[in-house]
Amino acid sequence: MTIEILQTHKLLESCEVALAERFTVHKLHEAADKAALIAQLAPRLRAIAGGAVNADLIAQLPALEIIANFGVGYDSIDTAAARAANVRVTNTPNVLNDAVAELTIGLMIALARRIPQADQFVRQGKWPNGNMGLFSELTGKTVGILGLGRIGKEIAARAQAMKMRVVYYGRKRQESEPHVFYDNLVDMARDSDWLVVIAPGGKGTERIVSREVLEALGPQGNIVNVARGTLIDEAAMLELLQTGDLGGAALDVFENEPAMPEAFFALDNVVLSPHQGSATTQTRNAMGALVVANLDAHFAGEPLISAVV
Ligand code: GLV
Ligand code: GLV
Repeated sequence: MTIEILQTHKLLESCEVALAERFTVHKLHEAADKAALIAQLAPRLRAIAGGAVNADLIAQLPALEIIANFGVGYDSIDTAAARAANVRVTNTPNVLNDAVAELTIGLMIALARRIPQADQFVRQGKWPNGNMGLFSELTGKTVGILGLGRIGKEIAARAQAMKMRVVYYGRKRQESEPHVFYDNLVDMARDSDWLVVIAPGGKGTERIVSREVLEALGPQGNIVNVARGTLIDEAAMLELLQTGDLGGAALDVFENEPAMPEAFFALDNVVLSPHQGSATTQTRNAMGALVVANLDAHFAGEPLISAVV
């Protein structure tokens, strides 16, 4: 009898094929009556592939052994409940570092040089009537990285290639890193032209980028968020962008995404992106392969490849 698993949302074709080769896969996102599906399968479901698993769902699945999250961030999984129920949790680290770092640099240049607006300017036939004006460049500027982890380090390397000075904030100094370390986020923001947010989401980091941090970044400062919307006081950010007390923002993630405050749409000093950090074919395939490899390891009784619980 094949092992029965629950898939929580649509995954890449390559990943869905690999899962179907191994398991009997039940697709929660395609179920008309999700509660009924869960109730019916509960005694047999041994794994979940995907994400968004709360304590309620874990409590309803007595046979659950492992949650293989599609994504490096696992803030949508109640890890405390998983641990208490003796359920393992895996994520997909490392394989997306380059893709997220590339998008980060792309967003920074897009904001600094107003690339989305430039494209509109040309398409709307405005060029023959004049030019757009002058903007700023990254060269020589200081970027403060909030969270110098695996992705943060890839961003730092690329920022240095852009001739930027790198500083970072984190829980502790990393002896192996040559960059200036700040143990106070407001102080780092004051020293930075750009603040790049790439720390994990979840309870420990909620609104860590407070109004005070944003004010310290100031009218010449720009913020980039490629992590989680919950890390920033979004209402304060919006207000400061409207008044010009914060220079600009390039945002790939939002507090209540995909819903977002429409007030952002009216702002010329923001670049908006729909949570695309890992959204390349190469990276998403690698993430899917890692989800499958963790499930394979688990059911073969081998050590998990990337366990977080
Ligand atoms: C994307 O946001 C991820 O956590 O992988
Ligand atoms: C370690 O990752 C394990 O499988 O226990």
